[in-house]
Amino acid sequence: MEIKKVGIVGAGAMGSGIAEVLILNGVDVILKDQNLQLAERGKQNVKKYLAEMEKYVRNLPEREIKRLEKYGIKLTGEQEKILRGNFPIPPDVDKLMKNLKTTDTFDDFRDRDLVIEAVFEEQGVKNALFHEISDYLKDDAIMASNTSSLNITEMASHYKHPEKAIVIHFFNPAYLMPLIEIVPATQTDENVVKSVMEFFKGKRNNRDEMVPIRAKESPGFVVNRILIPMITEAVKVVESGVADYETVDIGMKKGAGMPMGPFELADYVGIDIVYHVMESFRRDLGDFYMPPRTLKHLVDAGWIGIKSGKGFYDHRETQK
Ligand SMILES: NC(=O)c1ccc[n+]([C@@H]2O[C@H](COP(=O)([O-])OP(=O)(O)OC[C@H]3O[C@@H](n4cnc5c(N)ncnc54)[C@H](O)[C@@H]3O)[C@@H](O)[C@H]2O)c1
Repeated sequence: MEIKKVGIVGAGAMGSGIAEVLILNGVDVILKDQNLQLAERGKQNVKKYLAEMEKYVRNLPEREIKRLEKYGIKLTGEQEKILRGNFPIPPDVDKLMKNLKTTDTFDDFRDRDLVIEAVFEEQGVKNALFHEISDYLKDDAIMASNTSSLNITEMASHYKHPEKAIVIHFFNPAYLMPLIEIVPATQTDENVVKSVMEFFKGKRNNRDEMVPIRAKESPGFVVNRILIPMITEAVKVVESGVADYETVDIGMKKGAGMPMGPFELADYVGIDIVYHVMESFRRDLGDFYMPPRTLKHLVDAGWIGIKSGKGFYDHRETQK
C-alpha cells in the first residue's frame, strides 16, 4: 500500500519532530494531542524547526562567500551568481505548513494511510489508544508506535488488525537524527514492513536522508540497547573513582569519536529516561542491567538533565 496521508497522535517533542520531517517531504499530516491547545503548541514547534532550517539554508551562500574572502578570494558578480545558484533553495515554510493540520478528534483520521503514536511511554496508555483508534481508521491503515521500549505485540493485540501494527522508532530530535528503527510485532504482516520501508525511502530531515533499519522486537531494539548501558557504565566508572564526569566526557569525545560525552548525552536524553529504560532492561534481561545508584538519586532529586535545568551538569546559566 502506498502511504500518502499520515496522522500523528501526541504533539510533544517526538510527535512534533516527526510531523516536521513528514511535511518537509510534502506528506499530508494531521496532528492530534489530548486537546487542541496542545496540538497547536506542537504545530508551532514544527514551524520553528522549519524556520531554523530555512534560515540555515538561506545563509549557506553568504557563509561560503565569507569563507572564501578569508582566503583573500573576492568573487566577481557573475561568479557570485553562479555560486548562489549552486546552493539549495530554502524551503518555503508557509507553503509546507499548509500540509499540517491539527485536530482534537479521531474523526479526522478516517482517511489516514498511516498513524504514528508518540504519546506518553506507558503500555496501558498505548494499548488503550490502539483500541480506541480501531473504531476510526480504515481497514488497510497501518498503526505504528514510536515507543522506545514498550511491547508492540501487546499494543497490536489491542488493535482491530494486529497484522497492521508496527514500531516506527525515530530518534530525538527527529528533524536532525536520520535513523528510524522499524520493528514488526509478532503479528505484523511482511507487506506492512515493506510499505513502511518504502515510505521512508528518499525522505529527508533538516540534515540528512532518513535511514530506516529493521530490528526484531527486543528491549531497546538496536541503538538504545547499546547506548543506555554505555551511559550507565560511564556512571559506574565515575562511582568507582576512576575519573570525574567531565574527564569521562572528554575521553569518550576525543578518544572514541563521540560527538557528545555519555554524561552530556544523559542530560540531553533525560536521566529519568535513562533510568527507566535501564530498569526495563533489568526486568527483561537480568540484573546485569541494574541501574547504578547515582541515577536513582538524581531522579529522586528531580535533577534529570536539561529539561529540569540540572543533571550531571548545571544548565541553568545556559538556559537564561
Ligand atoms: N524523547 C525522546 O528522546 C524519545 C525518543 C524516541 C522515542 N520516544 C518515544 O516517543 C513517545 C513520546 O515521547 P516524547 O518525548 O515526545 O513525550 P512528550 O511528553 O514530549 O509528548 C507526549 C505527548 O503526548 C500527549 N498525549 C499523552 N497521552 C495522549 C493521548 N492519549 N492522546 C493524545 N495525546 C496524548 C501529551 O499531551 C504530550 O503532548 C514515547 O513513547 C517515547 O518513549 C521518545
